[in-house]
Amino acid sequence: MHNIPVAKVLETAEHVYLNGEWVPVEQARLSVFDHGFLYGDGVYESMRAYGKQVFMSDQHFDRLERSARCLGLKLPVRGEQLMDLIGEGLSLNRLNDAYIRLVVTRGVGPMGPDPAPCQNPQLILIVRDIPPLHGQKRDGIRAALSSVRRCAVDSATAQIKSLNYLVTVLGKLDANRMGVDDVILLDSRGFVAEAPVANVFIVRNGIVLTPAPSSGILEGITRRVAFDLLSEAGLQVVERDLTPYDLSVAEEIFLTGTHAEIVPVCEYGGYPVGNGMLGPVTSILLDLFGAATGKGKRNGA
Ligand SMILES: Cc1ncc(COP(=O)(O)O)c(C=O)c1O
Repeated sequence: MHNIPVAKVLETAEHVYLNGEWVPVEQARLSVFDHGFLYGDGVYESMRAYGKQVFMSDQHFDRLERSARCLGLKLPVRGEQLMDLIGEGLSLNRLNDAYIRLVVTRGVGPMGPDPAPCQNPQLILIVRDIPPLHGQKRDGIRAALSSVRRCAVDSATAQIKSLNYLVTVLGKLDANRMGVDDVILLDSRGFVAEAPVANVFIVRNGIVLTPAPSSGILEGITRRVAFDLLSEAGLQVVERDLTPYDLSVAEEIFLTGTHAEIVPVCEYGGYPVGNGMLGPVTSILLDLFGAATGKGKRNGA
């Protein structure tokens, strides 16, 4: 834990954690020789705190460990210590609910992609008030199919939450170009994969369907939460390959993610999904997710 004088805390603007200390955002500086910047060499996790509690913290820390392991990256801080740091960030920035971005870069080293000479991985922690990606829209968003493909499962970086997010950026560009809120990406085989920063579910014939990790998706933690909540509510939830046709004829489509939370898709490819309104399964999930995070309660629902 870091001792930050109370007087200083009270006068502070937003702080981020960098280089082993909390600094005001304007003073946060990262070396241009950090391999995270030069080569996208690093990993990250995004989490949310609800009422000062980090939602699914163990799952996020586990995934961070797995991402770091794939890159042979030593995490400078882990477990309890990480939790303490997040607690400090919430207090310092005076937040109960927050979006938390935890980044670990390879650190500073000579030019060239070899990570071996980089001896000091950098931990960066951003704890900020960021609303859900598409707002709190219960009436849903407009989505379309992107021409951008997720990386094949046999590509080096598929499924690692690394600092390489160009596919996501290209997907977002595609959404902007098409004038929709979000897009859905196919995998290298032509099956449905996911949205740029969210997993996708559909409802067909009353069954909830979602692509399996073999589609090169990021195994979302919110995806798992949605899976479990809906299963516990008695719905049949199945992982399987989905085709673009499945999306076109779905009764409901929704996205899940830490940044996005639960997002109903009410228009897909220019046509209404189902009757174009919030569907019953997505509605149930929104309520269950609200209860699980405590959001519904705090919003007075
Ligand atoms: C590519 C991708 N897919 C899905 C997700 C959703 O994962 P989670 O629910 O763990 O946030 C994310 C989150 O950032 C992502 O980057």
